[in-house]
Amino acid sequence: MSTKTIVVMPGDGIGQVVMQEAIRVLDAVGFDADYIKGDIGWDLWCREGNPLPERTIELLKEHKVGLFGAITSKPNEEAAAELLPDLKGKGLVYSSPIVGMRQLFNLDICIRPCHTYKGNPLNFIRRGAKGEIEEPVVDVVIFRQNTEGLYCGVEWSNPAGIVYEALRTHKNFAKNFVNVPPEEIAVSTRIFTRKATERILRAAFEHAAKNGYKSVTLCEKPNVIRETSGMMYNMAKQIQNEFTGIELWNTNIDAQMMWLTKNPEDYGVIVAGNMFGDIVSDGFAGLIGGLGFACSANLGRDVAVFEPTHGSAPKYANYPVSIVNPIAMIESACMMLDHLQENTLATKIRTAIANVIKEGKVRTYDMLKMKGSPDVVKMGASSTREMGDAIIKKL
Ligand code: NAI
Ligand code: MG
Repeated sequence: MSTKTIVVMPGDGIGQVVMQEAIRVLDAVGFDADYIKGDIGWDLWCREGNPLPERTIELLKEHKVGLFGAITSKPNEEAAAELLPDLKGKGLVYSSPIVGMRQLFNLDICIRPCHTYKGNPLNFIRRGAKGEIEEPVVDVVIFRQNTEGLYCGVEWSNPAGIVYEALRTHKNFAKNFVNVPPEEIAVSTRIFTRKATERILRAAFEHAAKNGYKSVTLCEKPNVIRETSGMMYNMAKQIQNEFTGIELWNTNIDAQMMWLTKNPEDYGVIVAGNMFGDIVSDGFAGLIGGLGFACSANLGRDVAVFEPTHGSAPKYANYPVSIVNPIAMIESACMMLDHLQENTLATKIRTAIANVIKEGKVRTYDMLKMKGSPDVVKMGASSTREMGDAIIKKL
């Protein structure tokens, strides 16, 4: 086993504390790595006018693997107001460094697993036909296209000139909006390319084949969004031909959000475009404990970045004793280990987490369904550090 170099980007707020726990757990399991800190986030925006400095980009280019905590984003006016005086009035515009990182390194495959831990008091429960309580086991992996679609940022308010003229050539625009002046219109485009769509579909089918899932569910809306969702569905049908034994299910995003609480145990691998993937992955995360449990991988051809899906939770950021749940961050580190083919280490950590949860002695405030406050530790909740300690002890 050779020493790996990991670019560690804790970022803002609780990103800092959950990252510390992830590194402690990685050390405890015996992962042989050097960690280099990558600057990213709100501080960098305020002090340097760039939340994703060139030096961090260079580190990722060189070392190829990043572990990321969370960042804080704020609306344009607030962002401009918090710049250091020297940087004000220079036309700097804030943009999210995690979205920037995904686009810059073409991290187009986002993987978000959601699986039930036995004994987690936050597990989804429902009533069965005879009124009995059922606790379905969720074992779902969402493959979200990470760079295109509605989040690609090709958008206009007041689309004047050739954009407006081009829109007017579309028969449905002529039918529905022809008398609306451009200043009354905002447009966000949903662009899918065949190349990126094929990559995310293939990644989903390959994951299903490799891990024994019997279905891949395409979660889009091809009956209404005919060009983009429709293209994705047609491509999915073609690719499915190469994977005998794996069924292709086609669900609409709206119906899927209803079904995921009715029969979540029926789903295996889910694949979707950028926005619907974002939505459906939060939906499934809610069934397994929410943001404290939701981890993810962002994979490009060359660079990969692993992160919890939660944000910087500023209201909990500066507690003398941190209360947030580090499991999503630690699970993201496990996904990094899988990527580096350190599967045995990843499995050890996951087993340790499962044992801590099953035992039920150490639970952060979210697992006790408390409202977050500095008092929760006095009220019996475990701190972020205590959860890290408990996982390390099981290792
Ligand atoms: P958030 O995910 O930071 O927090 C929402 C709520 O979820 C928190 O108030 C807390 O109750 C709970 N929560 C989050 N992480 C938790 C954990 N590890 N353990 C226990 N409870 C946890 O989302 P919010 O409040 O909408 O955004 C706060 C900031 O984070 C914003 O500036 C936003 O732009 C940014 N953000 C960054 C993301 C990223 O870095 N990838 C993703 C989402 C939001
Ligand atoms: Mg999201």
